[in-house]
Amino acid sequence: MVYTRKNQSRLTRAEKRRFVNAVLELKRKGRYDEFVRTHIEHYVSDGDSGLRVAHMTPSFLPWHRRFLLEFERALQRVDSSVTVPYWDWTVDRTAGASLWGAGLMGGNGRRSDRQVMSGPFARTNGVWVIKEGATTGDFLMRDFGRPQNPIKLPTPDELAWAMRDPVYDTAPWDSTSKTGYRNKLEGWTSGTGSAKWRNHNRVHRWVGGHMLGGASVNDPVFWLNHAFVDLLWDRWQARHPHSAPYLPKKPPAAHGPSSGRVVGRFEGMPPWDVPPDELLSHRGIYRYA
Ligand code: CU
Ligand code: CU
Repeated sequence: MVYTRKNQSRLTRAEKRRFVNAVLELKRKGRYDEFVRTHIEHYVSDGDSGLRVAHMTPSFLPWHRRFLLEFERALQRVDSSVTVPYWDWTVDRTAGASLWGAGLMGGNGRRSDRQVMSGPFARTNGVWVIKEGATTGDFLMRDFGRPQNPIKLPTPDELAWAMRDPVYDTAPWDSTSKTGYRNKLEGWTSGTGSAKWRNHNRVHRWVGGHMLGGASVNDPVFWLNHAFVDLLWDRWQARHPHSAPYLPKKPPAAHGPSSGRVVGRFEGMPPWDVPPDELLSHRGIYRYA
């Protein structure tokens, strides 16, 4: 049966509770940290070697679509009513948004050590212990808006700039691609200051703390950001019906700079060996409301 992913701002109190309880149950069973590890393992940058399947790469969108589906299936084995909500960060733009309430994600980190002190993922509640990619402590950290050098969440205009681009992605298919929807949405730039992060990346930067880098799955808001990014890929396809929904069609030529580093439309993506072509649509699985 097709299920619905909802805007987090429209979840009932009971829906929030069931989502949070399922996430906490996966954490207790050790399953949640497997998702953190999978993300760390596949976080390969331009400057690393090997296949870039999750970030700085065309398969950023299909890889995370599949990753969210795996997570959602795990949640649904705990509670079949649960789906992953999405966070429209062009609308819910402040630390006062209901997203950060004690019934859902909890609030900002405190000033001294950025430790999250409220809500279900506060270390003081005893369940949310950071195990993978921990740096200074075993508590979840956030640093909303980076107060020492303030940054804002992406604006509707900035998102519209990405959504307008009719080409899915362009060579060199990495963080330096100047045009193409994928990188405008993923958000790597050669800019400095606030211009250094756009859209999806800027959301990671705005939340700060664990949301920075490969271990960002440690913050459950990761999933709500990526559900919105997933929804946006749908909107982009609907807006550009004559554009190829994924590029490149064939993997980049052997011996070229991108050889062996980028997934073509029909090549399997690790760790599931599923090609982007099978993830171009989620119709028949879930819908967004
Ligand atoms: Cu990611
Ligand atoms: Cu991300």
